[in-house]
Amino acid sequence: MDKDTSPPIIELHGVFKHFKIGKEKIDLFKDLDFACNEKDFVVFTGPSGCGKTTILQIIAGLTRVNQGKVKVFGHELDNFNEESLALFRSSTIGIVFQLGHLIETLTVLENILLPVELAQRDERDYEKRAWDLLNEFYMSHRAHSLPRMISGGEYQRVAFIRALILEPQILLVDEPTANQDEQTKQAIFRKLTELKGQKTILVITHSRDIFPQADRIYIPSEFKLREKNGIA
Ligand SMILES: Nc1ncnc2c1ncn2[C@@H]1O[C@H](COP(=O)(O)OP(=O)(O)OP(=O)(O)O)[C@@H](O)[C@H]1O
Ligand SMILES: [Mg+2]
Repeated sequence: MDKDTSPPIIELHGVFKHFKIGKEKIDLFKDLDFACNEKDFVVFTGPSGCGKTTILQIIAGLTRVNQGKVKVFGHELDNFNEESLALFRSSTIGIVFQLGHLIETLTVLENILLPVELAQRDERDYEKRAWDLLNEFYMSHRAHSLPRMISGGEYQRVAFIRALILEPQILLVDEPTANQDEQTKQAIFRKLTELKGQKTILVITHSRDIFPQADRIYIPSEFKLREKNGIA
């Protein structure tokens, strides 16, 4: 089917999201709509605290909305219980969190292979891919280290590799090039460019080097997503 006539792969309809801090209610999103088609490359940018991470967490079903509908592949996330949502997420979405979230008691390689185990697939089918990705991101020498022994930039690279291991259809990436040196940034750009057109990619970034890849760029602003005009 033609890309432009397919139904959206991700849909947010009339989404409200607030946080409560003590007795105070802080509205982040009100009546927000968003749609993204298969194989779109979407960038979210904007100032700290504007809601970029929260948008990705809503799409991943890691944060429930207060009102409105969130659909991924046509499935309304609210209809899943926690267990089925976790299984759905592990088989369709690769997520690179801003803060990594590696399991501290597992080595780098074990962390990378964890989604394979969670998805109940055979690890042996993914070991070569894990090593290829470790090499691609200059991390093979750290395969047997524990997360506390690696640097912040290395930690984020492991999180990136872990998100890619199962070749998910949707990739959500929160600031992948923050804390990276130039060589690693280039490796991450290369990977995102290679995956563009193969996967649906939503990236939070401040890096103007990534902007030209984007089909659309959004800034969370005034409770909604505002489309940034142009790429400059
Ligand atoms: N669990 C929470 N409880 C209370 N407030 C929260 C919570 N999560 C996020 N917020 C608030 O919502 C707003 C948006 O947070 P979010 O993490 O989405 O911002 P961001 O755009 O990703 O920022 P940054 O660029 O610093 O990562 C912030 O003001 C934040 O303090
Ligand atoms: Mg954030």
